Amino acid sequence: MALMPRKKRCKDVAVTSVYDCSLDGNSPVGKKVKFGDFGVFLVERRMGSSRRRFLTELAWKKGFRVEEQMSDLVTHVVAENNTGNEVLELLEKQHGICRDGFDAVLVDIAWFTESMGAERPLEVENRHRLQVSTEAVATSEAPISSYACQRRTTLRNKNMLFTEALKVLAESAELSESEGRYLAFSRASSILKSLPYTVTKMEDLQGIPNLGVHSRKVIKEILEDGTCSEVGNILQNERYHTLKRFASVFGVGVKTADKWFREGLRTVDELRASNGKLTKRQEAGLLYHNDLCVPVTRAEADWIKHIVERAVRRFLPDAIITLTGGFRRGKECGHDVDLLITHPDEGKEEGIIYQVVNWMTTKGLILYDDIMGNTSKGKSKEPEIFDHFEKCFSIFKLEKELVNNLGAETLSLCDPLAGNQTRGGGLTAATEASHQVTVVATGDKAWKAVRVDLVVAPFSQYAYALLGWTGSRLFERDLRRYAKHLKNMSLSSHSLFDNEQNIYLPATTEEEIFAHFGLEYIPPQERNA
Ligand code: CTP
Ligand code: MN
Ligand code: MN
Repeated sequence: MALMPRKKRCKDVAVTSVYDCSLDGNSPVGKKVKFGDFGVFLVERRMGSSRRRFLTELAWKKGFRVEEQMSDLVTHVVAENNTGNEVLELLEKQHGICRDGFDAVLVDIAWFTESMGAERPLEVENRHRLQVSTEAVATSEAPISSYACQRRTTLRNKNMLFTEALKVLAESAELSESEGRYLAFSRASSILKSLPYTVTKMEDLQGIPNLGVHSRKVIKEILEDGTCSEVGNILQNERYHTLKRFASVFGVGVKTADKWFREGLRTVDELRASNGKLTKRQEAGLLYHNDLCVPVTRAEADWIKHIVERAVRRFLPDAIITLTGGFRRGKECGHDVDLLITHPDEGKEEGIIYQVVNWMTTKGLILYDDIMGNTSKGKSKEPEIFDHFEKCFSIFKLEKELVNNLGAETLSLCDPLAGNQTRGGGLTAATEASHQVTVVATGDKAWKAVRVDLVVAPFSQYAYALLGWTGSRLFERDLRRYAKHLKNMSLSSHSLFDNEQNIYLPATTEEEIFAHFGLEYIPPQERNA
């Protein structure tokens, strides 16, 4: 390649050299050009302009032809402290010459200095050549990983038009209990969320993983028609809407939603009126459904964290309470509030959930609770879907006025748990009402029901619990998949087990956990996969 005559260019680039006189036999420094068949181009990047000027003059003096611009008169591209890929990228960006657009050889400065010493162009040896790795050149950036934990996904989604459509398809698959299709559409949607650009043509999808035939068809249709007929049909489908409605009730899963649909039920009101058997959680879910459908705001989440902090510290003054879930990822609203509780003295946190929830219940701050004690005897080496922490899935009673009127400064001064009075209608009335499964309207009342998940982790497991409860669900799923398939490790919200070394890998921070995987750290705001 090195000594071949020059040919194809992919763009019109300056062919004329400021030193064109050299082609007639004279160099700009007045010396005879001895090696007219050779054209050297010195890459200025990392070499600097003054050194480049010095080397240019030296080369002319030795009888070489030096080109100021990259052109097809160049046979040797000389770079100092640049990789082959960096040089190719630079030639494309600055000179508009693509990879196949020239036949010049990419060489290190060593070839140049040795040739100067020898006063003739030396044969290019392998050690002179700049290495070019093929994958990295296809796109000038690193290829996109199929694992969400190797991508940065912020809340600034540039492909909403496609991701919303794929989300409908994923939901529809989930409601049909088709796990495979649910995952395929979720992954396709997730990869589009991570793109830094808006897809405007099918070519934009080149080299992007996780896009199956079906998802590509959907994207293509939206690009061509603005909508996707399959998604349109789902959105007209009564079963889809009814199952989605029922499954949005706290405590109701897809199987139950489907059963009710097959029994002919269609609305939440019909469900309330029916005398079907409900679990305690479903009763509460129905009772507070109207409130629970209203998104929880960031201000409400902060306020609830503040209330829980006060309650926990009554019993454990040094306890640490962290807002996790969607709010930790930067979301402005969510379907619930997720709080993680721990204590620096391991063991002190045991049983705290009972004390806190009981006490808050007596204060009328909790409308519904379902406490789960610690269900594990120790760490598990198997990656499990559910963790074994002490936790409570609850519904809080949140005074609207307090949240509306309080700024951040007053938040720290006000104690919602001060005094003995029970606020509002209190728990007793609500609990009695729950047996009749009547509706608690959102409208006039002074409080709002809010779903809250409280999780208690021993300090040594805190980093793993924090990582596990921050989400998103797909991010967590891919982290575990990455651990298992690429690292032969088992990750859970409790621990990380290295199956090769047969040891647990401790961590006190999320950064350390990413380091155990050899993964670049992804902050919570970029885990919105
Ligand atoms: N999670 C879990 N075990 C559960 C429920 C949730 O480990 N039984 C974890 C999931 O990994 C999830 C995170 O807790 O990513 C938060 O769950 P959830 O509140 O359902 O979702 P968010 O991402 O917070 O979304 P939203 O804002 O709608 O609440
Ligand atoms: Mn949440
Ligand atoms: Mn939650």
